[in-house]
Amino acid sequence: MLMNHSARNRIQGDRMTNEWVVVGAGVQGRQICAAVAAAARVAGDRLLGFLDDDAGKHGQTVDGWPVLGPLAWARSHPGPLNVAIGIGQAQTKRQVVAQLRAMGGHLRFPPVIHPFSCVGPSVALGEGVVIQPGSALTCNLTVGEFTIVGACSSISHDAQVGAYNFLSPGLRIAGFGIVEDDCVTGLNTCILAHVTMHSGSISGAGAVLIRDVAPGDTVVGVPARSVKKAAAG
Ligand SMILES: CC(C)(COP(=O)(O)OP(=O)(O)OC[C@H]1O[C@@H](n2cnc3c(N)ncnc32)[C@H](O)[C@@H]1OP(=O)(O)O)[C@@H](O)C(=O)NCCC(=O)NCCS
Repeated sequence: MLMNHSARNRIQGDRMTNEWVVVGAGVQGRQICAAVAAAARVAGDRLLGFLDDDAGKHGQTVDGWPVLGPLAWARSHPGPLNVAIGIGQAQTKRQVVAQLRAMGGHLRFPPVIHPFSCVGPSVALGEGVVIQPGSALTCNLTVGEFTIVGACSSISHDAQVGAYNFLSPGLRIAGFGIVEDDCVTGLNTCILAHVTMHSGSISGAGAVLIRDVAPGDTVVGVPARSVKKAAAG
């Protein structure tokens, strides 16, 4: 589901105090927790801490936030709970989202927009999208559910970004650029106008994509070339 963004609802949901948890207390979770904490501070929301299925982390604090328990902790939470998913890998994230959605309608996945980012009013964001600080998303573009947009990225007019992508910091997508689903972009990737990264493809750090990338391919360099090895057998 895509939602129109407005400055009023940087974190969406009721204007009563929303409570948040971040799923995953690893590297991605910690970075997403920082964005949730910043956005929650501005919105007057309350961040409770992390959920993580690693029992060794339960009861510990990570970057100052408690690890409250496993994912199942969310099932019995009384009342609405906003959940941010701190997982980068698309397949794992899809599984975790399916698990959480099956726990009941009290769990919600509003987009998390770091307050030091700029998202235009005609930008549509899916559930669970995370926009990290310093990013600019201009106009008439979409970002599909559970995509992470890394810090200091820019996504230009009329771009279409699909679901469950992991977009590393410094991404540049020119006008009408397309990233389908389940893609990974390395640091400082540039996608030129009208170029499509098809589903499941990967770009290396610093790659400049001047032509479409085939589904599942890996490309590197300037201009980007495929380095995907042929499957054995
Ligand atoms: C693209 C990438 C995924 C390739 O990893 P890989 O499949 O293990 O590939 P290899 O390391 O075997 O490299 C394959 C070839 O690509 C080259 N290459 C790898 N990464 C490259 C890059 N970023 N730019 C240019 N060339 C690159 C290698 O030199 C090698 O070239 P060769 O075949 O001529 O010797 C990885 O190198 C990369 O850039 N990852 C992005 C890391 C990143 O930005 N992380 C963000 C963290 S927030």
